[in-house]
Amino acid sequence: MNTKRKIAFGSDHAGIDLKKPIMDYVKSLGFEIHDFGTYDHNRTDYPIYGKKVAEAVAKGEYDLGIIMCGTGIGIGMAANKVPGIRCASVSEPYSAKLSREHNNANILSLGSRVVGPELAKLIVDEFLGTEFIGGRHQRRIDMLTAEDEHNDVKFEEVKNGSEEKYNHYNYNEGKNIL
Ligand code: RB5
Repeated sequence: MNTKRKIAFGSDHAGIDLKKPIMDYVKSLGFEIHDFGTYDHNRTDYPIYGKKVAEAVAKGEYDLGIIMCGTGIGIGMAANKVPGIRCASVSEPYSAKLSREHNNANILSLGSRVVGPELAKLIVDEFLGTEFIGGRHQRRIDMLTAEDEHNDVKFEEVKNGSEEKYNHYNYNEGKNIL
């Protein structure tokens, strides 16, 4: 059973017709949901809703987010501007699964003009049902986090590092310690 129970939703006008059935589906699975808008078909701007959901997830008010626009691209870009957010824009279940296992994605972005509700449910099943596996992937997440938290990050190239030695990536006063 996935321990992440509170899911934040958001979309622009183009994503709203996919958002409704997916919110109902996620609710039926027992998750607590909240819709950060938009709430009607009037034309609006996806950065508003990507930012709202991303900030709620980044603050820890929600465990994960699911957002939609026409392609899933614009609203995903908006979400990824918020520090701490790793939003995956995907259109099939395999990438949704790997976005959790390897990338510890905390927001899923879908395109209502790309996937229908039934495919979207399969994608959501993988996203909500898969946990981050850590290990060597943790170091890469730490590198992304360093980019969020510092403005002068320089990455050191590491190839074939052992899991133990390179498990964690530490940022310290502009120098990278691996
Ligand atoms: C709106 O027409 C559309 O551009 C938007 O929903 C999204 O697909 C942008 O990435």
